[in-house]
Amino acid sequence: MNTDRKDLAINGGKPISKETILIHKPYLDEKDFKAVEETVRSTFVSGNGPACREFEKKLSEYLGVKHVFYTNSCTTALDLAFRAKDFPAGSEVIVPNFTYTSTALGALLNNLKIRLVDVDPENGNIDVLKIETAINDKTVAICPVDYTGNPAEMDEINKIAKKYNLYVVHDTAQSIGTLYKGKKTGTLADVSTFSFHGTKNLTTGEGGALVTDNDEIADRVIFMREKGTNKQSFLIDDKTRGFYEYVDIGSSFVQSNILGALGITQLEKIDWMNKERKKIAEYYKSELKGIDGIEFLKITEGAIPNWHIFGILVPPKHKYWIMDALRAEGVYSNVHYTPLHRNKFYSHLGKDEDFPESMKFFSGLLRLPIYPSLTKEERELVVMSVKKVMCALKK
Ligand SMILES: Cc1ncc(COP(=O)(O)O)c(C=O)c1O
Repeated sequence: MNTDRKDLAINGGKPISKETILIHKPYLDEKDFKAVEETVRSTFVSGNGPACREFEKKLSEYLGVKHVFYTNSCTTALDLAFRAKDFPAGSEVIVPNFTYTSTALGALLNNLKIRLVDVDPENGNIDVLKIETAINDKTVAICPVDYTGNPAEMDEINKIAKKYNLYVVHDTAQSIGTLYKGKKTGTLADVSTFSFHGTKNLTTGEGGALVTDNDEIADRVIFMREKGTNKQSFLIDDKTRGFYEYVDIGSSFVQSNILGALGITQLEKIDWMNKERKKIAEYYKSELKGIDGIEFLKITEGAIPNWHIFGILVPPKHKYWIMDALRAEGVYSNVHYTPLHRNKFYSHLGKDEDFPESMKFFSGLLRLPIYPSLTKEERELVVMSVKKVMCALKK
């Protein structure tokens, strides 16, 4: 091992990249800017406007799903997914231990309890073999996550859900455009929830969507996301006579029309943006293959991921040194997520020994930059930096 080498930027050597190469960047072009400007000029800037509804229609066609509700985040879409069900307080929802807090918040905000299940150490998705051991008579739902845009094993999850009559809320925050056995994510569960946060493959700055084929859920969500009012029919079909009614409990989960317009132009290029990500992933894989100490994440059988994140698994004892050394070379790398039980708010739900595979995955995981606007030169600089840094770890 030669981590003291003077040519490494972490030891004062010349960095490979003069400018920091960021880990994620939204892809926004002239069409996006124009759509936003035109919508602002139209003066319809408030929530659930015509552009939002057009975005919903186009997204439902793109996904092949009946109902799409554009919301102000994936977190609120997850909240709505449980609000629409009225499960008895204290019912349990199964959540993978390696996920973002929002997956758990959907259930928690609705007075439900979560039960954490360990994940596959090769890709961070819920370990389907462990789900049944977490089911008891209070269990009402499973909330799988597609970490990095690589889908959870939905066939197995749906089989278990059917056997125990459980509701499946698929947290597809990261997987817009991903295919699982020929089907798009968003069509694989009772309800799916996308994120359009600034870091995601398709972005409206902040934003999300609840999508479902279930009419009963859609009939409640349509009111609940608009403060429990029937304002949608007031906006669309003019059936109300100058006022709208308060028909259910709810909150404000609608999005500005300005962001709806951005959703439309972003959706037009999502397949192209995902293809660009795939090219980068393939380039990294071909260049970094065979390097001692680097493993790639396992792709789910039958999946074509959208490459939201490019992760590598490195030797745990050197992970933070590798991350710091890459940053010194000008390549931003980070760790995401921290297993839920490792966070203050969830620490009562278990210890490291209870989730050995989450810990194994987390201990080795590093993310590298991946986004359509990453230039050819930047892609090469990332590869050169990883090679330079990993070389110092050779025995
Ligand atoms: C798996 C998962 N669920 C939910 C969210 C929350 O998304 P949003 O920021 O749109 O609420 C994220 C955000 O990164 C996520 O990764």
